[in-house]
Amino acid sequence: MKQKLVQAAMDMRNHAHAPYSNYRVGAAVETESGEIIGGCNVESSSYGLTCCAERVALFRALAEGHTSFNALAVATENGGSPCGACRQVIWDLCKEILVHICDKNGLLKTFSSSELLPDAFDDSHLK
Ligand code: THU
Repeated sequence: MKQKLVQAAMDMRNHAHAPYSNYRVGAAVETESGEIIGGCNVESSSYGLTCCAERVALFRALAEGHTSFNALAVATENGGSPCGACRQVIWDLCKEILVHICDKNGLLKTFSSSELLPDAFDDSHLK
């Protein structure tokens, strides 16, 4: 299953809309039921409106009715790891999951989401 998730993230790089940075990012999330849903980065000419691949994958999964996730993979040319904003959204929507980080050749390393965002702020602070 991990290999399928990694491959899906790598394949999603082909859908990246990255005319400004030319940095193509693919992501894929595995739902509780084992479904794999992909996303890619989508850039805007107003650069700050860009949405990262991880968030596109997660928002797409939510929009399709999924609310619980097992793992997420992100793939870039050179093994870049999720930005700070995505780390927060991954924690908010997935809590503790595995995050696989890949370069153009495949899986490089795996972290837990709490390793990526230690001592996170979340909904528990709002109750
Ligand atoms: N990017 C992602 O898609 N995910 C990340 O976690 C880091 C950055 C995208 C945003 C932008 O389109 C490009 O990579 C360069 O920053």
